[in-house]
Amino acid sequence: MLTGKNIILGVCGGIAAYKTPHLVRLFKKAGANVQVLATASALEFVSELSLATVSRRPVLRDLFELEGPGDDDKTMHITLGEWADAFVIAPATANTIARLCAGLCDDMLSVCFITLRPDKPVLIAPAMDGHMYGSPSVRRNLAALAAQGCRLLEPASGELASGQCGLGRMPEPEAIVEAVGEMLRPAPASPLNGLNVVVTAGPTREKIDGVRFLSNYSSGKMGFAVAREAARRGAVVRLVTGPVSLVTPAGVERIDVESAAEMLEAASRFFGTCDLFIGAAAVADYRPEAPVQGKIKKDDAEMELRLVRNPDILGEFSAGRRPGQISVGFALETGGGIGYAREKLERKRLDLVAFNVYDGVSTGFEVDTNALTLIDRDGNVTELPVMPKDALAGQLLDSIEQLLPSR
Ligand code: PMT
Repeated sequence: MLTGKNIILGVCGGIAAYKTPHLVRLFKKAGANVQVLATASALEFVSELSLATVSRRPVLRDLFELEGPGDDDKTMHITLGEWADAFVIAPATANTIARLCAGLCDDMLSVCFITLRPDKPVLIAPAMDGHMYGSPSVRRNLAALAAQGCRLLEPASGELASGQCGLGRMPEPEAIVEAVGEMLRPAPASPLNGLNVVVTAGPTREKIDGVRFLSNYSSGKMGFAVAREAARRGAVVRLVTGPVSLVTPAGVERIDVESAAEMLEAASRFFGTCDLFIGAAAVADYRPEAPVQGKIKKDDAEMELRLVRNPDILGEFSAGRRPGQISVGFALETGGGIGYAREKLERKRLDLVAFNVYDGVSTGFEVDTNALTLIDRDGNVTELPVMPKDALAGQLLDSIEQLLPSR
């Protein structure tokens, strides 16, 4: 996928910079040409000589460099922007993320980011201390970069150089190379192109009182993967999501909600116009009947919580839809066969149901992988084994495309 592709790799000053010579080697092994642009502080963490040796090109840093790939008649930052097929920033620090967001142009990395041709994909792999990653300013800047079309690669969880443990590690170089290959893979000519698609994702929260709620373990990863893939195939995607800490896929309109009632209210605005509705959210089936305003004070007595049914968002869409609108649901169980999923397909009048099992290891909630059994309205069953949620989203949409009315 990367043979002959020109990749700009922007390296920033974080401890994960030590992994970038390996990243360059992997890109080269996949057949790509790599031009490294390093910030001054990146070279405190990784040697210029290592990066130049593995990339077989001088590392560029300063704004006024004259030697580099591309057209000799143009200034370096313009030629680089034209030469590149993709721009990867890894590790991306909070400082560089803020500078890119603000449009600063004070080194080769930032100026090339601005001069990159707008149709060229950008992948940003943030790596920093967990508190920094969660800070409102970093979240805001990342959201702004995502909104302008940059693809963000979630940092991994684990031990951090700060001594903390949590989210913030740069994803492994192999994952970055795979993501770039994915970005450069030409989008298939898809029947989804131009269709309006609504995806629900994540958990809902049902208030008990001012500080407590009922919810579940959904991370939103499955629904976000489906939304990302639908957008890649050219669909106009609205993603209605419960509270999750995921970045918005490029080109997707995101609507954040909290409770099932709010999810219904947001999703139903698109019921009339959407061509395809995909319910990947883990919507709470029940909510406390009478949530309390402030914090419930404890006493020695036992407490009873009375729950009432929540609206069935997918069911309401299916029941009211016009001919040609496609309705797809997920069915999550903790074991057992596909009987429950078949029952949901019937009861919710779906065109397709994707059955998955929460095994606490590699499928269902939270994890990056899943396995699905797809059952369609004609009774066809397709087993998809454990694989990354992104890959499953592609296979799910392949199956859904077969069900779309011909245009
Ligand atoms: O978010 P992740 O951590 O990546 O995990 C992914 C997932 C396990 C949440 C996802 O793959 C999944 O299975 N989502 C549906 C989970 C679920 O709640 O299933 P269900 O069997 O309770 O609901 C059946 C269908 O009806 C679902 O499409 C659900 O979105 C929809 N529903 C359910 C209840 C309700 N009140 N309204 C709904 O729309």
